[in-house]
Amino acid sequence: MDGFETLIYEKSDHIAYVTLNRPQALNVYNIQMRDDLYQVLGAIKDDSEVRVVIFRGAGEKAFCAGADLSEFLSAPSPIVARQARFGRDVWGLFLSIPQPLIAAVHGYVLGSGIEIMLCCDIRIASEDAKFGLPEGGLGILPAAGGTQTLPRAIGMARALEMLLANRRLSSEDAYSTGLVNQVVPKNKLLETAEEMAKKIASLDPMVVRNAKQAVLRGLDLSLSEGLELERRLAMGLRGCKTELGER
Ligand code: COA
Repeated sequence: MDGFETLIYEKSDHIAYVTLNRPQALNVYNIQMRDDLYQVLGAIKDDSEVRVVIFRGAGEKAFCAGADLSEFLSAPSPIVARQARFGRDVWGLFLSIPQPLIAAVHGYVLGSGIEIMLCCDIRIASEDAKFGLPEGGLGILPAAGGTQTLPRAIGMARALEMLLANRRLSSEDAYSTGLVNQVVPKNKLLETAEEMAKKIASLDPMVVRNAKQAVLRGLDLSLSEGLELERRLAMGLRGCKTELGER
């Protein structure tokens, strides 16, 4: 799969790499990127060879500086522009991917950039990363899941501070609030993400998928429902292994 205008998609040894590739515009998210991501995510979801995915941004300055404001502002109206941008449920698709997703972020991680990162399961930041949600000041709400995924990651009060007071976080702040798993020097960012990806890719893919499902789906359940889900997933795995063993 290649030939995308706004992304680079690569695969190697069960690891897929998705690179946001508009470095001249700080990798901002436009309608073409939405369409490209939709295609790539659909392919990843159906590809059993892919066991783990790394998301990153091209260029020195940004993972992604948010929505493309030139496109947004030149549309007939903000409402029409937003409908066009979010008509395809790329965010629902993102959150339904069964394989673990690792975000390796650097530089500006703003607006849709932070929301893309929040759709990923493990987040690694370089020391120069800067996080923020400027949507409020632009008169809009984040619409790529940010109002839901951010408080789940860093808690309600901190999420509201970012949303309403445009609080920006440095990489150290992001680490101390739990927004990212670790912070590394910029020249170690890809290497660290790849080490993590290789560990995950070396495990039984069904174990990995079921563990991700148990944790993610469990977050929206009561403890007793979550325990039931865990039991079913563990039994399913055992059943599957017994069946394979019997053949
Ligand atoms: N939409 C469209 N283009 C954008 C953009 C955006 N959100 N953010 C940056 N760009 C473009 C700039 O227009 C510039 O293009 P040019 O070289 O053709 O003039 C290029 O990316 C580099 O940006 P620049 O502003 O020169 O870099 P900087 O280092 O001085 O500043 C930021 C970086 C991120 C502080 C600044 O670009 C910014 O505030 N961007 C807007 C962030 C935002 O509000 N995002 C929307 C969230 S919903």
